[in-house]
Amino acid sequence: MNDVAFQQCMNPVCGARYAVDEVHVSCAKCGSLLDIRYDWDRLPRLKSLSYFEHRWSTKGTEAEGRADFSGVWRFRELLPFYRTEEDIVTVGEGRTQLQKADILARHMGMKAGSLLLQYEGLNPSGSFKDNGMTAAFTHARMVGAKRVACASTGNTSASLALFASLAEMQGVVFIGSGKISLGKLSQALDYGALTLQIQGDFDACLRRVRQVAVDAPQMGIYLMNSVNPFRLEGQKSIMYRVLEARNWEAPDWVIVPGGNLGNCSAFAKAFEELKELGLIKKVPRLAVINASGANTLYQLYTKQGLRWKNDWYDASVVQGFYATMDENNIHAHTVASAIEIGHPVNLPKALRALATMDGVVEEVTDDEILEHRAMIARWGFGCEPASAASVAGLRRLLDKQVISPDETVVCILTGHELKDPNVTVKYHTGIDMKAAQEAAPSSPPQGRLSNRPVPVEDSLEAILRAMGGDPRMLSGAVTAAR
Ligand code: F0G
Repeated sequence: MNDVAFQQCMNPVCGARYAVDEVHVSCAKCGSLLDIRYDWDRLPRLKSLSYFEHRWSTKGTEAEGRADFSGVWRFRELLPFYRTEEDIVTVGEGRTQLQKADILARHMGMKAGSLLLQYEGLNPSGSFKDNGMTAAFTHARMVGAKRVACASTGNTSASLALFASLAEMQGVVFIGSGKISLGKLSQALDYGALTLQIQGDFDACLRRVRQVAVDAPQMGIYLMNSVNPFRLEGQKSIMYRVLEARNWEAPDWVIVPGGNLGNCSAFAKAFEELKELGLIKKVPRLAVINASGANTLYQLYTKQGLRWKNDWYDASVVQGFYATMDENNIHAHTVASAIEIGHPVNLPKALRALATMDGVVEEVTDDEILEHRAMIARWGFGCEPASAASVAGLRRLLDKQVISPDETVVCILTGHELKDPNVTVKYHTGIDMKAAQEAAPSSPPQGRLSNRPVPVEDSLEAILRAMGGDPRMLSGAVTAAR
């Protein structure tokens, strides 16, 4: 066992610790989110981040060194929770780049050299999720998991399906019926995951998959959503690569779209640890951008002033907000389907992240997202709608003079343009390909490897049946479905 790493409840009043080779969906004592923590004093001391540069020479092939092949595990001393390098499950993720976007900067009214795009769409499954998936699959292999599952707005499911097929585990993905883009749906089917199309949205899917993991242990589900703290360990590496591309100098700002709020939480953890280790002096400021139709964090942080204070937050404010949402039957709705989330599970970690990185939260409309997505494609690098929220948010923050045009800004392009071609075609031609496809008569699939999605009603029994399980085996106390 690895005894320098452990899992710890993020609630300081509880603070329960668990060994790194245990599997928990949340703290077994109080239900809060868990963090992965390290006993850094018992690890060899890193003198400077330039230590990692020598890894470039061995990053050619998996055969030369499976860990250096990965843009995540090249930084393995900063996520040392695995036992041996044999545990590592990699598909060559994280070989992404920080791109200077001077033409786009000009169109945004910024100085040359001041706008940089961290292009995470270059990952094997086309989104930043691969950074986290490699870490969570590594943990899944360490604990002997055979069956992995997630709820998803599309990218997590695509990434899980890819890793599951290559790690020879069974992948099960819960997606909202009609809620994810065709590009992402096609990936889950193609990589062979059991694809459950639940009659509900992402929030309903996440509730259900957590229920299956907790209440139906006989299904042997290892949960891959970002409540899994190992995911966030891998996503820290996005910031390591940003720093590496800038000669280990932090930018002034990092801007990221906010959905389930795992990514922003991982970024702050990366900087907090680097600072603790004395490896950086400056921590950049963070801007998290919500779509205005899915703006829980914006409402709570910017409108209601909810803050991380004395290592915790006022959970009653969040409960009150959700109760009002439920009473009024309000669900998230945005063209940026990847961030169409009303109940972000990492909200407490995001509040902590905003405190660590002196952050702001902004919202942008669907029109702003669509216009900035087109601008990024025209003068930068194509991305999917959710990713463009970062640049649309930058525009708002420039207009409000929160960010000045000569500050150095890194926007994270979280997913590839080809994830959601329907939005692009509709923007340019007015034709809705998705509607046209839905109207077309369907014929049965012909291919030898055809993998049809399974329509399932939003109930635990129906889901278990669709997974080949027996609902009569449910443990007595079923987690209340909200
Ligand atoms: N951008 C893209 C392209 C995403 O797919 C997601 C999340 C986000 C941004 C938001 O990141 O959740 O860490 O705040 N997609 C998840 C999914 C929810 O299921 O694929 P976050």
